Amino acid sequence: MSRLPTLSAAEVPSERLLLRRALHDADREGFIELSTDPEVQKYIGGPRPRSEVEQRFDAVITADATSSPGNYVIADNTTNRFIGTLMLARRSTDSPGHVTEDGKELELGYVLRRSAWGAGFAFEAATAALRAAADELPDQPVSLVTQTANTRSLKLAARLGFRPISTFEEYGAEQTLCTAPLFMFKI
Ligand SMILES: CC(C)(COP(=O)(O)OP(=O)(O)OC[C@H]1O[C@@H](n2cnc3c(N)ncnc32)[C@H](O)[C@@H]1OP(=O)(O)O)[C@@H](O)C(=O)NCCC(=O)NCCS
Repeated sequence: MSRLPTLSAAEVPSERLLLRRALHDADREGFIELSTDPEVQKYIGGPRPRSEVEQRFDAVITADATSSPGNYVIADNTTNRFIGTLMLARRSTDSPGHVTEDGKELELGYVLRRSAWGAGFAFEAATAALRAAADELPDQPVSLVTQTANTRSLKLAARLGFRPISTFEEYGAEQTLCTAPLFMFKI
């Protein structure tokens, strides 16, 4: 399958943040915390064993950053501290829940360290990524899938302007499928 385009920028700046494709050595602690914290992972598959996450960090950092387009580290733009990750990539056609007929739509995802919740960072990062994507790509529907029980994520989706359109079961839980036109983010 040929790879459909997503946001190509190596970096996307915003007022307080820098989205960067590159993973740095100094991101190690934050990256591991993100995947092992039970509260952060509650609605996205549960915490992973630390050893598995360490191995994944080592694999990602040695791989070419350009091999995973649409995947960004969210960092503080003054300290470069790792705050979380953001994904704007094509949803797998094998997954349920689609907003386009070919099932290859752009999907937005975000995960922040627990200490970074409640400061508007996820909203700021998602807005910056979607604006940059709207400048680069033709208009198209963007999807966002979140567990219906994940009220923080649903609140963020609504604040960004995503509209819930259906629910479906995946990973033993009800998921809500939301969508927004990419050009809604064009300024
Ligand atoms: C989903 C998740 C990213 C939401 O994080 P968040 O910090 O609540 O989201 P936002 O960036 O929209 O921030 C909103 C909060 O910041 C507050 N805030 C403070 N300063 C702000 C500012 N300058 N701008 C906007 N909001 C601000 C808002 O009042 C709101 O507070 P509240 O939580 O008390 O209502 C976070 O809970 C998370 O990482 N969860 C685990 C991963 C996950 O489930 N991801 C979903 C899979 S798609």
